[in-house]
Amino acid sequence: MWPLPGARASRCLLGSLRRAAPPPPPSPPRRAKCNLTAYMPEAGGFEEVRSPSQLQRFSVSSGERFWAAAARHRLSWISDFHTVQDCDLARGRIKWFDGGKLNVSVNCLDRHVHANPEKVALVWEKDEPGSEVKVTYGELLEMTCRLGNLLRRRGVKKGDNVTIYMPPCPLAVASMLACARIGATHNVVFAGFSAEALGERIRDAQSCAVITANQGVRGGRLIELKKTVDAAVSSCPQVRNVLVAMRTENPVEFTHKDVDMEEEMRAEEVVCEPEAMDSEDPLFLLYTSGSTGKPKALVHTQAGYLLYAALTHRYVFGYHDGDVFGCVADIGWITGHSYIVYGPLANGSTTVLFESTPVYPDPGRYWETVQRLKINQFYGAPTAIRLLLKYGDEWVQKYDRSSLKTLGSVGEPINTEAWEWYHNVVGDGRCPVVDTWWQTETGGICISPRPSDPDAEILPGMAMRPFFGINPVLMDMAGNKLTSNNISGALCISQPWPGMARTIHNDHQRFIETYFQPFPGHYFTGDGAYRSEKGYYQITGRLDDVINVSGHRIGTAEIEDVLNQCPAVAESAVIGFSHDIKGQAVFAFVVLKESVEASQADVTRELSGSVTKKIAKYACPDHIQFVQRLPKTRSGKIMRRVLRKVVERDPGGLGDLSTMEDPTVIQDIIQGHRDLLEVNQRERQ
Ligand code: WT7
Repeated sequence: MWPLPGARASRCLLGSLRRAAPPPPPSPPRRAKCNLTAYMPEAGGFEEVRSPSQLQRFSVSSGERFWAAAARHRLSWISDFHTVQDCDLARGRIKWFDGGKLNVSVNCLDRHVHANPEKVALVWEKDEPGSEVKVTYGELLEMTCRLGNLLRRRGVKKGDNVTIYMPPCPLAVASMLACARIGATHNVVFAGFSAEALGERIRDAQSCAVITANQGVRGGRLIELKKTVDAAVSSCPQVRNVLVAMRTENPVEFTHKDVDMEEEMRAEEVVCEPEAMDSEDPLFLLYTSGSTGKPKALVHTQAGYLLYAALTHRYVFGYHDGDVFGCVADIGWITGHSYIVYGPLANGSTTVLFESTPVYPDPGRYWETVQRLKINQFYGAPTAIRLLLKYGDEWVQKYDRSSLKTLGSVGEPINTEAWEWYHNVVGDGRCPVVDTWWQTETGGICISPRPSDPDAEILPGMAMRPFFGINPVLMDMAGNKLTSNNISGALCISQPWPGMARTIHNDHQRFIETYFQPFPGHYFTGDGAYRSEKGYYQITGRLDDVINVSGHRIGTAEIEDVLNQCPAVAESAVIGFSHDIKGQAVFAFVVLKESVEASQADVTRELSGSVTKKIAKYACPDHIQFVQRLPKTRSGKIMRRVLRKVVERDPGGLGDLSTMEDPTVIQDIIQGHRDLLEVNQRERQ
C-alpha cells in the first residue's frame, strides 16, 4: 500500500508544483511587541488587547476584526474575501469570508512543500506494532495529486460527492485531500458501519464514487471492507467507480465498477491543478445521529472550517512547529477530520494516524507508541482512558513519556478519576489535560482549557472556558437566558463562528428546526451544562434522545426503528444508561407481538444481530428487557424519562407520573427489571 517504500517526489515534480501553486500569503505587518504578539501573532494588531484572556473577550465583542486577522494570517488565499461574515442564525444563514477563493489541499500541502518537502506530514502507526510508515509533505502532495487526477479522469467533477470507507491510512488522507483539490466533497463513513448503513449514506449523499481498501486490520483481526462496500453499492446505481487500495495481500474479487487504485495512480501525472473554491463551497459531508430515525449529513465548508480547525489545533493543544501531534481517533468521525487531517496539516504539523486499538497487543500500546514516535500532544477518548486505568499503572510506567506536553480528551464527559489518572500517571503530573467539548456540528473545539494562556487555571473534569469567538449561554426551558453563575441550563452558543456547520445535506429546514428554533437566534447544542461560581463550564450530557456510547453518537430512534422492523416486535423504547467503561450503553425495552412463540433468548439474539447488521456493533443494546406494555402519556408518547429512572434505579423515585396514562404499567417494568438483573448476575457467575 502507498506510499511505496523509499518513494520521494522528484525534483522536477516539485519544480512544476512550485509554479502551479499560488503565491504564499503576504507576511503580516509588524506591530509594537507585547507578550500578546508572542502568544498569538495574528492578534498583534489589536492595540487595545493586553492579555490572552482579554483577547477572548475581544474575539467575541469584535469578532469580525479577530476572524479577519486570523484568516489572513493563517490561510493562503487565491483571492481575498470582501465580507468577513454574513450570518442570520434565526434563518440558518451562515457565511464567512465571502468573496474569498482558496484551495484547502493547497493550504494543507503545497505551502508546506514550498517550505520543506522532506518534513514528515503523516506517521501511520499501523496495527502491527513497530511498523510505522512516515510520509513527507512532498510524498503526500504527490499521492494527492495522482489521486486527484485519477478521480478527474474517472469523471468526478467539482461539486460531486465521493464516499470514503477506509481505516486510518495515508491513502485515506490523500483521498480526502484529493477531493478537496478537485472541488469534490467527501463523505467519510466510519469503517465499522454495516453495509446497510453505508449504502444509506452513499445514496443520501448521492456519491458517484467510493474509495475503500480490500481489507482493514485492527487489533490483529481482518475486516472485510471491500465485501461490505460490494453489498452496499449493489443498491446504489449512481456509483460509477469503486477505487480499491490494498491494505493486505489477500486478493479480493473485482467487479466491473472496481478500479485498482494504486495501480492506476502510478500512471497518473504528479501535478494536479487545484480548483479555486469559494469560501462557502462545501468541503465535506459527515453523517451523525440525531433524535430521529434518519442520520443526517452535516455540511462543512472550505475557509471557515479550515481556519477554525487550524486555530483550535494550535491554541488548545499548545501546538508548536516541529511537534508530533497524536490524535488516536478514527478518521471516520469529526475528531479525525479536524485533528488528524485538517487542523494539523493546515498548521504544517507531523500528525499520527493510529490504526490499532488501545489494548493491542497489550494495554501499553498507546504509551509504547508515544515513546517510539515521540508524540508531543496526545488526544484520546475518556472511554479508552477508563479502560486502561483498570489495567494498572505499570503499562504506562514501562514507557518513556517525557515527549508529552499536552493531553487531550474528547467525546464525552471525563470523570474526575479518569482525569486524575490521565494527568498524574500518564502525564506524570506535568502535562495539562484539556477536556475539549465540541460536536460534529461545531467543526472544532468550542469549550476547553487553553494551557497556552498563562493566566488560566484548569480544574479536573471540566471543559472550562470558551475558545476565541465562542459566546456560550445557558437557557432555561422557557427560553430565558440564565445570567448568574452556579447554574445549569441548556447550552447554546449565541454568536456564529467560522467552524460551524452550514446546513444538513438536502434538508435545510431540519437544520433550522434542530439547531436554531429551540432558542431563536442561538445555536442549540443539544447538551446541558453547568456554569460554576467562577464562570467555568461543565458539560452534563445530552438533553435530547441521543446516546453517547464510547464517544460515538447514536439516536434512540435509530435503534428503535431497527428493533421495530423485526417481525416479532410490536414496539420498543431505547434509552442510554451509565456504563463504567463506555460512559453510556444502550438499554432496550421491547414489547413482543402476542403470536410470538420463539424464546426470549432467541429474540434477543435476533434483535442484536439486526442492530449490528443495519447500523453497527457499537449500537447494540447491552440489555433487552421484554415488557407487556410501555409507559405512555395520555397522548400516546413513550415516557423514556421514566424508563431511564428505572434502569438507573434512581433513589429519587420515578419523578412526576401525573401525565402517565396507566401508572400500573411501571410496577411490572420495575419487577421485570429486577428479574433481568438477577438472571444476568447468575449468568456471569
Ligand atoms: C457530543 C458530540 C466532538 C467530537 C467527538 C464527538 C459529547 C463531546 C465532550 C466533552 C462532555 C462531550 C456531547 C456532544 N461530548 N465532547 N468534552 N465533555 N461531552 O462528536 O459525535 O458530534 O458528539 O459528544 O454530548 O454533544 P459528536
